[in-house]
Amino acid sequence: MKVLLVGNGGREHAIVWKLLQSKRIRQIMCVPGNGGTAALERCQNLPLTIDDFQGMVRFVEVHNISLVVVGPELPLALGITDYLKTQEIKVFGPTKEGAQIEASKSWAKSLMQQAKIPTASAAVFQDAKTAKAYVAAQVAPIVVKADGLAAGKGVTVASTTEEAQAAIDYLFENKFRQVLIEEYLTGQEVSVLALTDGLTIRPLLPAQDYKRLGEGDIGVNTGGMGAYAPAPIVTPALMKRIEQEIFTPTLAALRQRRIDYRGVLYAGLMITPAGDPKVLEFNCRFGDPETQAILPLLETPLEDLLLACAEQRLAEQPPIVWKPGVAVCVVLAATGYPESYQKGKLITGIEKAEAMGVNVFHAGTRLKPGLSGHQLTTDGGRVLAVTALGENFQQAHAQAYAAVECIEFEGMYYRRDIGVAGVGWVER
Ligand SMILES: Nc1ncnc2c1ncn2[C@@H]1O[C@H](COP(=O)(O)OP(=O)(O)O)[C@@H](O)[C@H]1O
Ligand SMILES: [Mg+2]
Repeated sequence: MKVLLVGNGGREHAIVWKLLQSKRIRQIMCVPGNGGTAALERCQNLPLTIDDFQGMVRFVEVHNISLVVVGPELPLALGITDYLKTQEIKVFGPTKEGAQIEASKSWAKSLMQQAKIPTASAAVFQDAKTAKAYVAAQVAPIVVKADGLAAGKGVTVASTTEEAQAAIDYLFENKFRQVLIEEYLTGQEVSVLALTDGLTIRPLLPAQDYKRLGEGDIGVNTGGMGAYAPAPIVTPALMKRIEQEIFTPTLAALRQRRIDYRGVLYAGLMITPAGDPKVLEFNCRFGDPETQAILPLLETPLEDLLLACAEQRLAEQPPIVWKPGVAVCVVLAATGYPESYQKGKLITGIEKAEAMGVNVFHAGTRLKPGLSGHQLTTDGGRVLAVTALGENFQQAHAQAYAAVECIEFEGMYYRRDIGVAGVGWVER
């Protein structure tokens, strides 16, 4: 079986790594991939952009590829699945209509409201003046959200109404045509990703990610500085509620809209102090870096699950099997991320880290031909993600950081508190 994978982050490297564990996978082609996928046997990077759907179809046809797996949200929102389906190509990832669940927060909110899925109450506005007048009559804290893909920069949790109003002005000035003003929720955040073929839905292990740049959860929001799984806050009883109160009705609401949703349905949840799960947002793809923590724990062959979703026969699959223990994933970033940072810095020590038994997933890296063979250099803000497994959190944490110590590049920055404290930490 040959697979084409779209994307170039740590999430994609983790998906490729997991797929390649299976002898059944003869080859994977990545569009465009990164330095990590370039170095893997049976894997090849293609010089195409993630929106070159026609280019991908040519490769799929010439190379007899059986499945296309889409990593990031952008090509999904642009309709990659719709296009490939017209060419009779199997795809893991929802159609453009389905991808609205992430690409339009107002669309997702109205779906949740109609299906009575627990979520923060919200109002949608098309102009700054009305939105600001509404906020003036509310009590802070209050949440302002851009309606549209914003690469993690569209949400402001405002502690004053003035801050909320400034956020509203900023979004309309930056060409967003709608904003949501949302009720502020407190509690613990958790990511529950589920696989679905449009009819059946199977949750993966719950995970928690560390969104803030600084230790102790301070500083700006990032794409994610680390993650761990499974998150013990999601007990089996809570997972059952999440399935019954969130996933099942969401899938039904999608079907009611005649959306054949095949891919990942990712629920970003707030577990309120009363212990109730409420949806903060949905994403239409695997999370990054949650995937780098979840997939190393997966025992079931990933291609069985992805193919079953694409072919709509997930119900036939045996229950998903997981390795015991926990995974801690630490992101190594370039100083200055998520704003401006330098690229092209030489990376050393990965082999030494890997010899300790951890996974080093590449995100922003590039394999450059050099005088003495290939050189690996930095090529993005989030550069690497180091995942260690352990019997418990202390072990996994210690192992991940011992491996991180082996790796070096100029300006390397990482949080030292992934998996021990901060977001969602509960006594274990
Ligand atoms: N209603 C809310 N109450 C409190 N915090 C929120 C709320 N909605 C979002 N947040 C915070 O803002 C972050 C980003 O919001 P989210 O809806 O996940 O948007 P995105 O991931 O697209 O930026 C969340 O992870 C959460 O920390
Ligand atoms: Mg989010």
